[in-house]
Amino acid sequence: MKTNVVIRLVLQLTVCTYAVKSQTATPVLTPADLQGKITTNTVILKQPHCYFNETCSDCEIWLVPAISSAANSFDGDSTNNNILTLSPYPSAFGPQSKNYFLTKVGPQSDFPCDKSSDSLYFVVGSDGNCTTTNCNGILPTGSVVSFKYVLVQTSRITKVTNWSANITLFTPQKPASIYDGFVARSGAMVVITTILSVALGLLLIFFIVLCAVCGQKKESKPITGRGSMRMPRYDTHNLKDRVQPYENSAYEPERRK
Ligand SMILES: *[C@@H]1O[C@H](CO)[C@@H](O)[C@H](O)[C@H]1NC(C)=O
Ligand SMILES: *[C@@H]1O[C@H](CO)[C@@H](O)[C@H](O)[C@H]1NC(C)=O
Ligand SMILES: *[C@@H]1O[C@H](CO)[C@@H](O)[C@H](O)[C@H]1NC(C)=O
Ligand SMILES: *[C@@H]1O[C@H](CO)[C@@H](O)[C@H](O)[C@H]1NC(C)=O
Repeated sequence: MKTNVVIRLVLQLTVCTYAVKSQTATPVLTPADLQGKITTNTVILKQPHCYFNETCSDCEIWLVPAISSAANSFDGDSTNNNILTLSPYPSAFGPQSKNYFLTKVGPQSDFPCDKSSDSLYFVVGSDGNCTTTNCNGILPTGSVVSFKYVLVQTSRITKVTNWSANITLFTPQKPASIYDGFVARSGAMVVITTILSVALGLLLIFFIVLCAVCGQKKESKPITGRGSMRMPRYDTHNLKDRVQPYENSAYEPERRK
């Protein structure tokens, strides 16, 4: 009975592994431990190592970043002979635009099958708000985007990967929308505040008692240092209309005890 279950499990696992391997590659976020894999307008993807197994000397890998709802429109355009310039970056996004663009990742030979390639990543949007046709520009803030790597030979697309999952970019929060009221404070915060207040109060009482005890023990001594009261005149060199030397009206001649 037990052996049966184990065998079925192993079989299922084998089927799963086979299914994953037989699928076309799909772009994914980098598995590397990085901050900011998704920001308001950039995304960090895993590099396309081993995504295309064709052997062509002049093949290049390009990336298609698209607004998810416009992914189909790229798929329709992908056989176009001018696909690389059909939707130039600076005007790629907007209601009248195609809402995708293409940017070059590198020659295919730079992305061989290599187990250590998991840590290698590609930053979408690293050129900022750039102005050339195929620059690696930032994405519209807070939009839902999808990515697809494509193989390009003599300016035509010969092979594509699947679309990535839909990735929602962050939306910056306006300062006014961050509610700072008392209701927003959690019960734990109130408890901590109360405990800290009580502790601070106890500390204050402790110091007052300490001062009272010390004050009783020590005799107060007269201050013997030299102060301004004991200077008959001094130079006010930092003043513009200076009177030199300045007569100290507060001067008190040395008192003898
Ligand atoms: C590429 O991979 C496909 C399966 O994904 C396989 O059918 C084909 O033979 C491979 N081509 C090369 C050149 O390895
Ligand atoms: C991604 O978004 C598009 C458009 O918003 C939608 O048609 C598609 O079903 C979504 N895909 C997934 C996997 O959620
Ligand atoms: C890039 O800058 C232009 C002009 O300043 C602006 O209209 C456009 O929205 C910006 N693009 C992005 C993606 O922020
Ligand atoms: C990738 O695309 C192939 C065929 O286009 C499809 O059979 C497969 O299910 C897709 N894989 C994923 C993970 O969506």
